[in-house]
Amino acid sequence: MMKRNVVESSNNFHIAMFPFFSLGHMIPFLHLSNELAARSHRISFLTPKKAQIQLPHLNLHPNTFCPITVPHVEGLPEGIEFSSEVPTPLIHLFCVVVDQNHDQIQAILKANVLDHYINLIFFYFVHWVPEITRKLGVGIKFIYYIIKTLAVHAFSIVPARNYNPSLTVYGLEDSNKNGLPLEDMWAKWLGGFEEAGSVVFCAFGSQLILEKDQFQELVLGFELIGLLFFVVLKPPTGCTTIEERESLLGDKQIVLVLNLCDQIMNTKLLVKELKVVVEVESLSKTITTVMDKENELGVSLKKNLTKWRRILSEPGFMSGYIDRFIHNLKELCNVVN
Ligand SMILES: *[C@@H]1O[C@H](CO)[C@@H](O)[C@H](O)[C@H]1NC(C)=O
Repeated sequence: MMKRNVVESSNNFHIAMFPFFSLGHMIPFLHLSNELAARSHRISFLTPKKAQIQLPHLNLHPNTFCPITVPHVEGLPEGIEFSSEVPTPLIHLFCVVVDQNHDQIQAILKANVLDHYINLIFFYFVHWVPEITRKLGVGIKFIYYIIKTLAVHAFSIVPARNYNPSLTVYGLEDSNKNGLPLEDMWAKWLGGFEEAGSVVFCAFGSQLILEKDQFQELVLGFELIGLLFFVVLKPPTGCTTIEERESLLGDKQIVLVLNLCDQIMNTKLLVKELKVVVEVESLSKTITTVMDKENELGVSLKKNLTKWRRILSEPGFMSGYIDRFIHNLKELCNVVN
């Protein structure tokens, strides 16, 4: 019988993270891991091997990557490790890929438990993590950790739900604070414009594939605006959840062309709750409006955004959440003094 899990004397946890195999999921798990590691908790991050190439620049603390060998499933190309590498019509097969990691995750957890205690595992998507932790019998607590807006999950069980995709535009501020520096080519090109806010940027995330005529229509819409624009067909990150949230802290006017259900719900929150976004019918007309510094609607969006940016970037706002979260984890593990 293995020794029962205990929290080390310093009251620090060892936490295993097992996100869904897409950058859009792994990155928020890693951001949380960074916050936890910064508070002296130890993190083992269970991800496909490719993530070890793609994520290290976001690993700000000594979180340990534990590589997973992603199994092959009939019907998918060889070597696929992330959902963004799978064409949308085959995504159900990718769900099978993720589901087939049961034995591997069990072996990794077992080895880790033998080496040093694991107190908690954060996971998403698969249903068998609780069963594994119970089998290990050392009191590992499991957390089903959802990176999407909870409204998406609540909405998905409404029988009469009706997703109504639309186009939205919102005003954003400032720059690329936490990101990597711009590549020279882009820094030079953007640096050539004297006035801030004079270029329109459009990106689709890695999961949207437009038909040729849809894409042409969109780009023709941009041409109608008469402003400089560039359109990214395959940006480096996965799901727009992150782009939407991070862009709240940025300084750009953003157009969202919605596709997946969580994008739709996230945007509803930005439109109806935070009021930093407007839904639109005509792409070119709306972009012209929000790019016009004197337009009433554009000014109102900007004002609302400034308010939210102030709240979100207040010192202690984020760390307060993390500290309370850790307190709750300690309660869950019965280690609150
Ligand atoms: C900005 O917020 C105010 C107050 O909540 C709201 O009345 C207004 O409609 C918002 N502006 C836009 C463009 O949504």
